[in-house]
Parts: sequence; structure tokens; C-alpha cells
Amino acid sequence: MTATTTSALTQGSSPLSPEQHQLVLELASTLTPTQKVWLSGYLAGSAETAGGAPGAPPASAAEPATLTVLYGSQTGNAKHVAGDLAAAASARGLTVALTDMADYKPNQLKNEKFVAVVVSTHGEGDPPESAEKLHTFLASKKAPDLSGAQVSVLGLGDSSYEFYCQAAVDFEDRLRSLGASVVSERLLLDVDYEDQIPGWVETTLDVFEPELNAVTPAGGTVVQLPGLAATAPTAYSKRNPFVAEVGEVQKITGRDSTKDVRHVEILLEGSGLAYQPGDSLGVFFSNDPGSVDSLLEALGLDGAQEITLGGQDKPLREALLEDLELTQSYPGFVEKYAAAAATPVPALAELGEDKAALRSFLETRQIYDIVHQHPAQVTAQQLVDSLRKQQPRLYSIASSQQEVEDEVHLTVGVIEWRDFGREHVGGCSGFVRRAEEGDSVRVFVEPNDHFRLPADPGAATIMIGPGTGIAPFRAFLQERDAQGADGDNWLIFGNPHFTQDFLYQVEFQGYLRSGLLTRMDVAFSRDQAEKVYVQHRIRQHGAEVFSWLEQGAHLYVCGDANRMAKDVHAALVEVVAEHGRMDADAAEDYLATLRDGKRYQRDVY
Ligand SMILES: Cc1cc2nc3c(=O)[nH]c(=O)nc-3n(C[C@H](O)[C@H](O)[C@H](O)COP(=O)(O)OP(=O)(O)OC[C@H]3O[C@@H](n4cnc5c(N)ncnc54)[C@H](O)[C@@H]3O)c2cc1C
Ligand SMILES: Cc1cc2nc3c(=O)[nH]c(=O)nc-3n(C[C@H](O)[C@H](O)[C@H](O)COP(=O)(O)O)c2cc1C
Repeated sequence: MTATTTSALTQGSSPLSPEQHQLVLELASTLTPTQKVWLSGYLAGSAETAGGAPGAPPASAAEPATLTVLYGSQTGNAKHVAGDLAAAASARGLTVALTDMADYKPNQLKNEKFVAVVVSTHGEGDPPESAEKLHTFLASKKAPDLSGAQVSVLGLGDSSYEFYCQAAVDFEDRLRSLGASVVSERLLLDVDYEDQIPGWVETTLDVFEPELNAVTPAGGTVVQLPGLAATAPTAYSKRNPFVAEVGEVQKITGRDSTKDVRHVEILLEGSGLAYQPGDSLGVFFSNDPGSVDSLLEALGLDGAQEITLGGQDKPLREALLEDLELTQSYPGFVEKYAAAAATPVPALAELGEDKAALRSFLETRQIYDIVHQHPAQVTAQQLVDSLRKQQPRLYSIASSQQEVEDEVHLTVGVIEWRDFGREHVGGCSGFVRRAEEGDSVRVFVEPNDHFRLPADPGAATIMIGPGTGIAPFRAFLQERDAQGADGDNWLIFGNPHFTQDFLYQVEFQGYLRSGLLTRMDVAFSRDQAEKVYVQHRIRQHGAEVFSWLEQGAHLYVCGDANRMAKDVHAALVEVVAEHGRMDADAAEDYLATLRDGKRYQRDVY
């Protein structure tokens, strides 16, 4: 963990020469708050590398009152929001410690006086992987008395899930029950949260600032940025995606497969975008033109009509194609669309009063279905105001830049099903299915420091990645190959049929022959009478799995969060319990210790 303390930038208190002082002032005047936070983390990181004493403030500095910003994030959103809060606090001259919950020592909590928590929710109402340790600690007997601490919680979630922002609710409840006082009302934000962040940042700091200044006057800045300091900022981000070119889209499942999986190559030339194996690529997409046109027809709206979106005027059809969410449905749409209808739509109004019925109604329907089944009299602007902004989809990167340089590869499973007499296709995966070489696509890199190859090239890996979960392991293996890393690699892959669904078969068999892959076990679930999944292979080879772990192997799981990751975890607990001769609780602790040591990492969705 890195820490740095800088005084307010007056030449008198600074150790800089007048020339250095001037240079810093000039640079600082050009930086955004986020860039300032990044730079302070970067400098702290380089001071640490250069042998400085991380975390040790100068002997003369008084211990300043610190706002600790703790974030728990799986796909980067909460991390970025926490970074915004820290940057704004820092710009106000407050002392702030920005820390990933994964790197936070729970015992430290008893020393905190001012804490802002920013946390998303994953799985089915679960905290992100990186927040699990702190989440569990807060509910345990070891949790300290927090009376005297002032806290504020921001939750990010998705209202289409049953347990909306549950992790944030849990964090606030637990902190409150330990005696902390909640100083500003908990805010729970849906996927289109971005516009509300600046207001929340200001309100939160307005509450904390006088409290912090009452303890020590403003003047110091402590910024802790593990992870962020390691990655250079690029001009391109989720807020400013790079317009890349599609290089190739190839179906890599067989003609008779039940699945349509595409290998996608995207060209990043000229972007300066850099990524590491384990990162994801964020992809914005266009909605299907045919479906948009039939939606316009159902509503009797003219696509050329101008609407206003985010302060910009544009034709309705363009907004529907490029900017708005039409494939994922969520409660807010039903509410707003029904309320806007010139003549009431009783079926939708009734649904609004029954949460469970609304949820099951939404589960099987896209926005297109709701509109076709309940065409209402709404204006173009009312339709736009009922819809939420398109969110980019993330895909685990399936390539190493050491191998593919200015390209990035993805493995995209096309979401498709038939219902209500029409074909349904996922927003982004449908876009990928339609994409052709030379098409444009807006992308950004979303770093994931919680899914990384071992720093030691000699350390072994066990990679469990059924279905599209194979993607990051293709990147891992390309990277280890390019590095000449000599650690053992064990890949466990699964899918329905050997002949139809063996993704990247030739490449992985080549790696087996070359020795890069020490072993590969496959589970083709439907090639025999009984279903066989990756978790069966883990149990079947339990003695070896345990022996690899005992010898220091790093364990990775990628793919389906709902069933696979849970079943694999259960199999791992059984294997550790059986071969380590311990009970299930001890086996859970064994895996938790691996997780804390970054040797059990999951990228599940
Ligand atoms: C960190 C991360 C990494 C990821 N990596 C990958 C990857 O490597 N490869 C990959 O393919 N995906 C990956 N995903 C998933 C990906 O981001 C998208 O969620 C996925 O491609 C679907 O997006 P879409 O826009 O095509 O579908 P959407 O338009 O988002 O529609 C999906 C929704 O449709 C509904 N739905 C799906 N099937 C049915 C059905 N049969 N009946 C009724 N409703 C249904 C569900 O509500 C589902 O949530 C990853 C996700 C994350 C968070
Ligand atoms: C696999 C998956 C599961 C999710 N489960 C929930 C959930 O149960 N409840 C919820 O409110 N949001 C859920 N979300 C939505 C996320 O909380 C939301 O996208 C959030 O902005 C992610 O923030 P992060 O990038 O900091 O992790 C889920 C998202 C994904 C990808």
C-alpha cells in the first residue's frame, strides 16, 4: 500500500527548489481532480519503489484528521466514484485515504473517525469479491465498537436485480449497529448513476469537511492508491471511449452447437490503450436497426423527430440506436412509461403495485416486448425520458499485448432466445453478431487488479474457465508463453459438446504439446448420459488440486457467477476438506486465506 503526505503547495514549506516548485504549479494547473489523485498515487508508488518509507509521514507533520474512502468494486464503477470523491476532498485541502477494501486491514476500522463507503452489489445481493473480507468482518464477533465514527455510504447497483444495492444496505446497517453515526443519508444508485455523482460528492464533503476541520484544520493530503498508481492514465476511458475498428469476428462454435460464441479481434492502433491479462474491455454498441424500427412503428412515432438527451438535440431513431437501453428491462421503465401514457395502461399500472409480479414480468421481456405488448400513446420525448442510458458491456480480454500488440481479442457468447413470437438477442452480443470487419466500435479498458497472473513466473496456476470463462486464460497463457514463464499451468475447461464447443481447441492442444500447459482437463457435459461439469473434474482430481495448492499454485475461476462459480467453490471446499483432512469450516478458512493472499481470484459474471 502506498501513502504520501504533501503540504499545501507554498514554496516556504516545500522541499522543492524554486524551479521545481514552478514546474509543479504549472502542471497542477492543467490537471483534472482525477488526474491529480492519480499523480499523487503514482509519485507515492515511485517513492516506495525508490526505497522511501511508505506510510511514514514526515516527522514534523501533525497527524491530520483523515477521511477514509473505502471502496468495494468488481467492475470498476465504485472504484471510479470513490476516486472522484477522494479527488474532490483532496482539492478542498482535506486529508483523504482512498483504499480498496481488499487491501484494507479490518482491524484498522477501530481507529477510523470519518469513513465514506462506496460499494457495488454483485451475484445475488452479494458484495464484490474485494469487499467480502470486510463485509464478513463487520458481521463477526471481532467487529469493534465504532461509536464516535462518522460514516456515509453510497451504493451502486442495478434495479433489475432482486436485491438492489444490498451490499451497501448491509454495510450501512452493520456500521450503524456497531455504533457509528450515519452523517448523510445513504444513497443507492442505479446503473445510470453518473449524472448524480458530482452532487453526491459535494453533499458528502459538505458534511464531512467541517467535522474534519474541527479536528485539524485543512492543509494536508494523504492519498492511498494501491493499484491505481500502477496503471498510467490514458486519454480514453468509459467517459471518453476510443472508436476502434473491428478486425475480425469469427464464430468458434460448430454449426450444430446450441451456443453461438464469437472470437472478436478489435484494432487499437493509435489509441495508446494498454491492458494486462485479467483486464476487461468495455464495449458500447448500437441497437438492432430492425428492432428499433418496429418499436417506432408500434408506437406510431417518427424516428426523424428531434428529442433532447443529456442536453443534446438529436433524432429519436439515432438516440434509440446509439444511446438508450432497449434489451435489458427494469422497473423504472414500466413506471415512467405507464405514467407518461396519454390513456392509462391498466396492466402496467397494476404491475407497478406488485413487486414480485413486476419482477417476473420483466425477467422474460426486453423493452421491445413491453412496448409491443402494451403500445402506449407517448411522445418521442416521453419515450426517451422513460428509458435509461445504454451501459457498456464488459468482456474479459482474451489476448496478451505481448502477443497481439495493438489488438485486443474477446470471446463473446451471443445471448439469444425465442419468445412471444419473436427472436430475442442481447444488446451487445447481438451487435457483435452483426459486426463486420471495418465496422467501428467504442471501447475502453477496465483494469482488474483482482485477477492477475502470479508476479512470480515460476508459480503454478490452476485456471478453471468453462464456456466464455476461458477468455482470460487464453490471455494468461499467451502472456506466460511470451514471458517464457516456467511455472506449471493447469487448465480446466467445460462446455456442452467436444465436437461443437471446444473453444480455441487447436491453440490449447498446441500449448499442451509445447509444454506451456502442464495439463488440461475437459468436461463436455452432454457427451455422455450423465452431465459432467468442471466441478466434477475438480472432485475427480481432488488430490492433485490440493497438492498443487499446497505447493503454492494460484487458483483462478472465470465465467458464470450464478451456478458455476458456486458449484466450483463447493467442490473446492470438499477437495480441501478431504485431502487436507479438515472440516468444511476449516476448508472455507483455507480458501479465504488463499483469497486474502491473492491466490484464489475470481472473475465471474
Ligand atoms: C467482468 C465481466 C466480464 C465478462 N466477460 C465476458 C466474456 O468474456 N464473454 C461473454 O460472452 N460475456 C462476458 N460478460 C458478460 C457481458 O458483459 C454481457 O453481460 C453479455 O454479453 C450480455 O450482454 P448483451 O448486451 O448481449 O445482453 P443484454 O442486452 O444485456 O441482455 C442480457 C439479459 O437478457 C436476459 N436474458 C438472457 N437470456 C434470456 C432468456 N433465455 N430468456 C429471457 N431473458 C434472457 C437476461 O435478463 C440477461 O441479463 C462479462 C461480464 C462482466 C461483468
Ligand atoms: C454479475 C452481476 C451481478 C449483479 N448483481 C447485482 C445485484 O444483486 N444487485 C444489484 O443491485 N446490482 C447488481 N449488479 C449491478 C452492479 O452492482 C452495478 O453494475 C454496479 O454499477 C457495478 O459496480 P462495480 O463496477 O463497482 O462493481 C450486478 C452486476 C453484475 C455484472
